[in-house]
Formats: sequence, C-alpha cells, structure tokens
Amino acid sequence: MCGIVGYIGHREAYPIVIKGLKRLEYRGYDSAGLMLYDGENLKISKTKGKVSDLEEKSNLDITINGTIGIGHTRWATHGVPNDVNSHPHVSNSGDLCIVHNGIIENYEPIKKELIKRGYVFSSDTDTEVLVNLIEEVQKKENLKLGKAVQVALNQVVGAYAICVFDKKKPDEIVVARLGSPLAIGVGENEFFIASDATPFIEYTSNAIYLEDEEMAIVRLAKPLKIRRIKDDQLVDPYIQELQMNLEQIEKGGYDHFMLKEIYEQPNVIKDTYRGRLHANTGLIQMSGIEDNLDKFLNADRILIIACGTSWHAGLVAEYVIEEFTRIPVEVEYASEFRYRNPIITSKDIVIAISQSGETADTLAAIKLAKEKGAFVFGVCNVVGSSISRETHAGAYTHAGPEIGVASTKAFTTQITVLTMMALRLAKAKGTLSTSDYFRYLQELELIPEKVTETLETNDIAKKIASIYKDASNCLYLGRGYNFPVALEGALKLKEISYIHAEGYPAAEMKHGPIALIDEKMPVIVIAPKQGHYDKVVSNIQEIKSRSGKIIAIVTKGDSQVKELADHVIEIPETSDALSPLLTTIPLQLLSYHIAVLRGCNVDQPRNLAKSVTVE
Ligand code: AGP
Repeated sequence: MCGIVGYIGHREAYPIVIKGLKRLEYRGYDSAGLMLYDGENLKISKTKGKVSDLEEKSNLDITINGTIGIGHTRWATHGVPNDVNSHPHVSNSGDLCIVHNGIIENYEPIKKELIKRGYVFSSDTDTEVLVNLIEEVQKKENLKLGKAVQVALNQVVGAYAICVFDKKKPDEIVVARLGSPLAIGVGENEFFIASDATPFIEYTSNAIYLEDEEMAIVRLAKPLKIRRIKDDQLVDPYIQELQMNLEQIEKGGYDHFMLKEIYEQPNVIKDTYRGRLHANTGLIQMSGIEDNLDKFLNADRILIIACGTSWHAGLVAEYVIEEFTRIPVEVEYASEFRYRNPIITSKDIVIAISQSGETADTLAAIKLAKEKGAFVFGVCNVVGSSISRETHAGAYTHAGPEIGVASTKAFTTQITVLTMMALRLAKAKGTLSTSDYFRYLQELELIPEKVTETLETNDIAKKIASIYKDASNCLYLGRGYNFPVALEGALKLKEISYIHAEGYPAAEMKHGPIALIDEKMPVIVIAPKQGHYDKVVSNIQEIKSRSGKIIAIVTKGDSQVKELADHVIEIPETSDALSPLLTTIPLQLLSYHIAVLRGCNVDQPRNLAKSVTVE
C-alpha cells in the first residue's frame, strides 16, 4: 500500500519525485525516501514521517541535482515505521537501489541463505532482501540488471511493484509488477514511473499500465520493451490516453480532499449515469450488461464480493437487486470468501466492487471465482486498474480520482451503477411494473439536485459535530436499505475520528446493543419517511426511554421524529430504494466535522491507506 515514483529523462528529477510522492501519499504515509543519480553519485535521503519531512531532510543531507530519481512513500508491513526501514534500500555493494510496493512472502528463507553467503542487513524489511537477491544473482550469473531482476523475481513469492537502479548501468531503471499497480508515463525522451498516473498527469497523458507478471527496462532513446517475467516473452506495450486532468487531483479550495469529494457527489453521480440513463425514453444502456444480458437473466444467483465501503455498497445492492429483479443475491467479504472454499457454479454471477481496483483480497476472490467457472463483473472507479482488467466485463463509476482515504463519492457512484444495473435487469425480466420502472428512472435522474439540497445541511452537521466531538462511542441505526448506510456512517466516523462506532439494523438493538445506551451515547438514526418509518419511530422511543442522545436523519417536513430526537437533519424525499444516496450525505459531513474538530488528519487517517494492495 505504498506509493512509488521514478523518473529518467532530461529534467531535474528531484521536484518530480517529491511532488509525485505527495500525490501518492494517500497510499501510505509512515515514512518516505528517494534516490537521485547525478551522473556520478547515487544519493539517498529517507526518513520516518511524511513527504514534507523528507523534503526538509533531503535538502539538508544530499545535493538535489540529477536527472534520474526514484522515490517511495511507505505503509509499513514488514519492519516498523522508522528511518532504517524506509525505502529506498541499497544492496550490500551500494550499487543497486530499489523502491518496492508490496510484500515478499518468502523473504525470510532467502535472507537466511544470503546471510550464509556473507550478506548483511540493516533493516527488517523484505525489500532489502530482494535488492540483495538481485545483486547475488547478478554477481553469480554475471547478468545485466534486467535479467538479474527477472531471475530474482522468479524466485520470490508475493506482491510487488518495483523500480531498481544500478549505478553501474545508469541509463536505465528496471520496473516490474505482480499484484501491485504500476504505470509508466511516456514523454518526449523521458519516462515517468508511478503507482498511478497522478504523479505525471501534468507532464504527459500517455500511460502504459503494466500487467501482472510483466517487467520493463526503461531506457532513454530506446523503445520501451515489456517482457513477461516468467518466460521472457515480449509484450506489445499498450499506450492509453489518460482521461483525468490536474484540477481533478488538486483540493480546489477545499480544506480537505474528503470535503471536496463529498461536494463533488452531485456532479459525479450525474457523470456516472450520463449516457447510460435515459429517463424520458425509459432506456438504461450499459454495454457491460447489454453484452452479457443472457448470463444475468439466466443466473441462479448473484454473489457480490468487496471490502470496506465497497462492501457496504454491495449490501445496498443486495436489497435493490433482489427487490427489482427477484434474483437471489449474497454479499461476501472478499477476504473471507476466498478462504472459505465457497460453493460457486458456472450459473453464478459474481459482482466485484472496488474503488481503487487494486484491493488484494477482492482481486484474489475474483481469481478464485473465475477458476470455479463463475462470470465475474467488475464495478470499479480507476480506469485500467487490475480488477477492471481481471474481470470478464464491468462498469466504471465515474467518480474521478478519490484521494481522501475515507471513501465518499465512490460509495454513492457505486450505488448509482448497481441501481442502474438492477433497473436494466428488472426491465428485461419484467419484474417491475412499467410505471414503477419509469418512476425509478425519473427519481434517479433527480438525485444529483437532491444531493445538492442535502449538502445544504452542512452547517447543521457541523453544529451537531461540535456537540458530540468528544464522544467515545457512537451507534448508527437504520432499517432495510438504510441498514448498510448505518454501517457506512459508523465506518466513516471510526476511520477518520478514531471514535468507536457501530452500525446496526435498528431492530437488532433489543438483542443486546441497547445495553450500551445512556445519556453519553449519541445514537444516529436514519429515519426517512419512505421505508419502515413507523418501526424506526418505535426504536427511537426505546432509545429515548434510556436517555440516549438521538440525532435523526429525517425527510423534510417530518414532525413526529422531530418531537423525539435531540437533533434532526432533514433530507429531500425520495423512494426507499434510492434513499441511501441521500441519507449517507449527512453522515459523511458529520464524521468529517467531528474529525476536523478533533484535529485528526482527515485525508490521511492513522494506520490506513487508500488501497489495500496486500492481504
Ligand atoms: C473506506 O473509506 C476505506 N478507504 C476502505 O474501507 C475501502 O473501502 C476498502 O479498502 C475497499 O477499497 P476499494 O473500494 O478500493 O476496493
């Protein structure tokens, strides 16, 4: 879950590497480091902490000139976050230098063998073992760097995206990937290397995404050759035009990426159904569905696999798909799914949901489902991501780059895509009346402006946040479609404010959690007019009778809950099935303001990273 950057060309590498690492810092921010080569010296600077700490330190301990550079921002897996475990790591001879995103699972036996051969190690990392293995192969078999990297990689087990530089061969950087993402930006007589395209988007929009088990020797004035690590087979590089622009990856005047991304939801929901949803003609056009309609219509069941917030979107989809299409749906944590030997047949459709498209557990679950014969459909946000390439077909959410670690706009655009899929299948199956079908299309088309209206509750959310910012626990309750939203609200608060929070189906309270209720427990209840309103009202009365503090999300004009609750946040009316697209907004704002008022790093919460590329 680290971020890696590399540059070889005619410009000064330092500013490109530093700015690139800042763009990738959402991937991991335990420590940072870089290497520069100025034609003579291989210079390294690295430190525990953020890229800004590296910027300060590197200006003190190295001369920052040189047109070749590699850099790393770390999310610690092997070895605690400290200076010596920071990347880059150098081989014993001092000639080879590496940055690595991923995990080498069999590093310990390799380390033991290398120690027997006289190698010494200064860090606890798997990465330092890899660079010395490459050196050992290079020496023993007298190989060039590219070949040595290939031979070494065929001896390791695990996930990696790496950049390797050899000061004996200073006109190239060798890169390779398995499981962790790696993109190469192709410029005029210069190359950029990074975990995603954000570090080089301002320099070039031509990118090559390396596939799994591929490597390349990036050399100036030579055509880029991509080879398969296993069998050295040459692969034609596929250069794709990047769609994103710089503005999309800047804060745009907001204090945090998370707040910017919350406010982007009206537009990105519109972008997600643009050209797909035609409410006036009653058409939903999604090529991934159209091309595989028979498979969906003849499916015995739909299995949804995902992690974190994407899993919550999957839970909402379970309600929507079953209600609209009567196709049975099961939702699975990808990490559990892949290890419980699940029963899957070729009559099953598996939908894999992932914002980043790089989540290791989801990727592995996809591979398992494919091996067992299921048709796998992906719902991803990052174009060209591993999951979008591993699945048989799919649909992109058009949320744009999501940089805040806490997912917001990806959640609502995932629900938008999954709801459109359910409506399209319902139309094909005739499981929705024509009037209901058209009503849902029209309502979905109105959602962006209703989200805009809901965002006007920001000040109320901020006021309520100032009252409960010192809470140590919090409960979220919802029924039906809004039970997953309660889970998502709790996750948002947990991950950015570090307050312990739990989401529950409101009726579950009586079976235990109600014991937690007292005058210090804020309870957020999602109570829109549509859906199980009366039932939720009685749940609110149960909480009130135990002096719990009630913050209720209600439909505009609600009077009954207003009487009972300590605070209400009003949202526009919509149908029950679409209500998660509105009810989740005040919960995003509430957790955001509580985290800001607690002085937390909202965009880079502790211990987290944007895409979990290791198990
Ligand atoms: C959500 O805010 C978190 N960042 C995390 O739970 C995330 O949803 C999870 O890691 C799944 O990521 P993905 O959608 O990129 O696969």
